[in-house]
Amino acid sequence: MAAESNAKPDAPNHTLERPVYDPKAPSAIEVEHIVKKYGDFTAVDDVSFSVKEGEIFGLLGPNGAGKSTLIRMMTTLIPITSGKARIAGHDVAKEPNAARRMIGVIPQALTSDLDLTVEENMNIYAKLYDVPAKQRKKSIDELLELVDLTKWRNAQTKTLSGGMRRRLEIARGLVHHPRIFFLDEPTTGLDPVSRVAVWEMLGNIKEHRQLTILITTHYMDEADRLCDRIAIVDHGKLVALDTPMALKASVPGSTVIEVQFENPPGDLEQKLHTLDDVTSVQHEGAGMFRVLTSDGSRTTTELVEMAVHNGVRVKTLTVQNTTLDDAFVHYTGRQLRDELQKAHAFVMPPRPGLQP
Ligand SMILES: Nc1ncnc2c1ncn2[C@@H]1O[C@H](COP(=O)(O)OP(=O)(O)OP(=O)(O)O)[C@@H](O)[C@H]1O
Ligand SMILES: [Mg+2]
Repeated sequence: MAAESNAKPDAPNHTLERPVYDPKAPSAIEVEHIVKKYGDFTAVDDVSFSVKEGEIFGLLGPNGAGKSTLIRMMTTLIPITSGKARIAGHDVAKEPNAARRMIGVIPQALTSDLDLTVEENMNIYAKLYDVPAKQRKKSIDELLELVDLTKWRNAQTKTLSGGMRRRLEIARGLVHHPRIFFLDEPTTGLDPVSRVAVWEMLGNIKEHRQLTILITTHYMDEADRLCDRIAIVDHGKLVALDTPMALKASVPGSTVIEVQFENPPGDLEQKLHTLDDVTSVQHEGAGMFRVLTSDGSRTTTELVEMAVHNGVRVKTLTVQNTTLDDAFVHYTGRQLRDELQKAHAFVMPPRPGLQP
């Protein structure tokens, strides 16, 4: 397995073997009409879904949507106001200990002890979960290998990079052989290479240990590549749930054209609306427009012709398929874009005599 320093930002291997979602497979997690109230405020509002055994299930939503609250209820950390959550068939309210034995949890905040070594952090958890002494060493050795931290086992945790510390926490959360693994934003704050390394490790561990994974993330590209299904939550409600491909396909208009004009006239937005196949136009400021269309090549041609006809110069133009970001905006009316993912981008050459 590649060390963090030389991991390549490619899609992890396991995505190639992503199983087709099977609605008939047994459920690892079942949530029925679950509600969480804090006084008059409803943080989670009547959410129902189930996660199949062996699935990687993504929970996406803007800040404050209720993702962590959902995870806390499913993992017995806070009481449920109403509704039900079952973990491997165990009702978390009635059989919390049985549910707890099935799960590993990586909370949003880092919790490993900085003054202890990697191995000491692992050992404390193993003892906490009553892992018998004989199995403890075997499990720790295997997990440190899986997260590529074997050679760091005696290093103090404070000497690790952010990505390595996340990997330690992932290994620590698995020391008691849980079947269902909850991770709350395991890659937030990491650089892209470390993020890829974390996901790659999760994929390998999932195969090795036959885990079901429920994960929250703010990174749409990761969720798209790695999750079998995605639930979008907003204001405590479930607003969409499907495979990444189906979510993207459900957005009206299959292609996004991002175009920036030099000195666009005031009525340009209306003119863009009148082009064939256009389903929506968003003005993003500084002469930049985001145009959704069901026929990318035809609209692009018409758009350039329209610009030439009106004497408006196109500065940049990119054409791409709809992304999970577009699905997110479609369902929540808000953006959650950490990075602009541009495909097929090209920049118009500056006209002779003009400054770029
Ligand atoms: N103990 C609490 N008391 C009162 N309100 C709370 C409490 N915990 C969470 N909330 C509120 O519930 C809502 C959902 O919070 P939650 O932490 O679940 O959101 P989130 O989707 O995880 O957001 P983020 O992406 O920022 O982590 C927020 O409005 C939050 O302020
Ligand atoms: Mg959260």
